Amino acid sequence: MREFFIDFFTNYGRYIVFLHIISAVIWIGGMIIVKFVVAPTMAHIQDPKLRLAKILEIMQRLLNFAMIFMILIAITGAFMSLGLDFRHSLPSLYILIHIKEAVWTLMALNFIYIYRKRNAAQRQFLKGDVESATESIFTIGSYLLPLNILLGFVAIYFGVILRGL
Ligand code: HEM
Repeated sequence: MREFFIDFFTNYGRYIVFLHIISAVIWIGGMIIVKFVVAPTMAHIQDPKLRLAKILEIMQRLLNFAMIFMILIAITGAFMSLGLDFRHSLPSLYILIHIKEAVWTLMALNFIYIYRKRNAAQRQFLKGDVESATESIFTIGSYLLPLNILLGFVAIYFGVILRGL
């Protein structure tokens, strides 16, 4: 099995690293754009119901799209750590792989929490409870999204160290 991953990475490493980096760009970049570009623009919509409906739709599209890249990043990350045989070739850096796995797990749990909170906000909105729905969306935008952006930066920084820089 060990040989399989090393051979596979020798042949396709370039594509795996590319997929890993592009997934990070899309996942983290998507959250940054929603937080710092889309959300402030939405704030200009005067009608609170229309504003909430649009934010709920944007969040749903972002989460469904980002989910693919969240999964892809873990798969390519596993191929990279096994293919580069970090455990044996660079044991001093191997701990960083586990830290990245832990960071990814935190991000994934936070992502699931955001997903469920958005769905709850949608149900509240459909029941006419605009106040509770707005509160849920406020929590996502003010705390949960920034937390995942920050964790993403940490994972990217550790990725650069793993590169040997
Ligand atoms: C399951 C979790 C993860 C594992 C096992 C993992 C593993 C790795 C490994 C082994 C490298 C070094 C590749 C090399 O030396 O060529 C790397 C690089 C990188 N990782 Fe991850 N990673 C994980 C999660 C993440 C996450 C969540 C992000 C960002 C959201 C991320 C972003 C990056 C980036 C941008 C690089 C490239 C750094 C560079 O080219 O200098 N990784 N990762």
